[in-house]
Amino acid sequence: MAEEISTSKQTIVSGARPSGKLHLGNYIGALQNWKELQESYRCYYFIADWHALTTGYAEAHEVAGSSREMLLDWLSAGLDPEKAVLFRQSRVKEHAELFLLLAMITPISWLERCPTFKEQLRELEGKEINNYGFLGYPLLQAADILAYRADAVPVGEDQLPHLEITREVARRFNYLYGATLPEPEALLGKYPLLPGIDSRKMSKSYDNYIALSDPPETIREKVRRMITDPQRVRKNDPGRPEVCTVYRFQEIFNPAEAEQLGEACRTAGIGCVGCKEIAARKLIEMMAPLHEKRRLLEQQPAYLEEVLLEGEKRAGKEARATLEAVRGAMGL
Ligand code: TRP
Ligand code: SF4
Repeated sequence: MAEEISTSKQTIVSGARPSGKLHLGNYIGALQNWKELQESYRCYYFIADWHALTTGYAEAHEVAGSSREMLLDWLSAGLDPEKAVLFRQSRVKEHAELFLLLAMITPISWLERCPTFKEQLRELEGKEINNYGFLGYPLLQAADILAYRADAVPVGEDQLPHLEITREVARRFNYLYGATLPEPEALLGKYPLLPGIDSRKMSKSYDNYIALSDPPETIREKVRRMITDPQRVRKNDPGRPEVCTVYRFQEIFNPAEAEQLGEACRTAGIGCVGCKEIAARKLIEMMAPLHEKRRLLEQQPAYLEEVLLEGEKRAGKEARATLEAVRGAMGL
């Protein structure tokens, strides 16, 4: 019975390129969502270390370290290896086999017209990314997803074109070989975009982020540097919380007091220094258990390896079953 219940669960797959230490934007945007989903779905969450090489092939030696940092943040933030399957993409070779087979049926034009491909070529101008693997990025992602016959994929809006390619490829495979690879749905997160301390989107590349592992003093210092209402020069000028980055943080991390603080701001009943102190205190409070957990995990490298090996065993089993069906459908 228990087995039946667990096999009727829907399957969720998502991955993240190993970007090293995660920041609060990653936490609010993806991790919170992943954490909730692990409670009711069969979740496969992986470190997309091969994807990291599509643009970062010259820094291949950095991938293992960044993967480790990301795993530490995943576990400290509450991804639970008892609930979700956590693994490294590069350790489940079926991703590569499916990528290769799907490459046979994927028109190059589908990849060339992908908006993320065109955008990255523009943005990373000067970087040598005329490599075949970079063009194939969305197809490798399709293989990641289809290898588990996923029902849904939690992603950010920027990833929707890749989900579209995944569905198109699945459809083409099914048409050619009479098989049924399910077409996955995108699950857009319900969490808001988090601004960085300069009020642009929080991002590693803007250097405006608060890392999940930043110690309290760093958090305080970064919150002090946050952009507030630029028209509020003196403490007795009324402020406009709706244009203030600190206020966004109050709304997200201090919902119980946010409204009251907003009112105090509008009536010049509180100054920005005090308001920031409250925001910093809330963040520090929220992150304390994560830091504690991270500190413990950092001392257990063998446990981290064990989590991944166990995940790779479970993921491999599922992916092998899919690949057997795929080879069967193709008559290989
Ligand atoms: N491209 C995704 C990103 O940059 C990472 C990724 C790789 C992924 N494979 C995936 C996400 C499969 C979801 C499913 O965020
Ligand atoms: Fe922003 Fe708070 Fe200052 Fe108002 S009091 S402008 S909400 S930092």
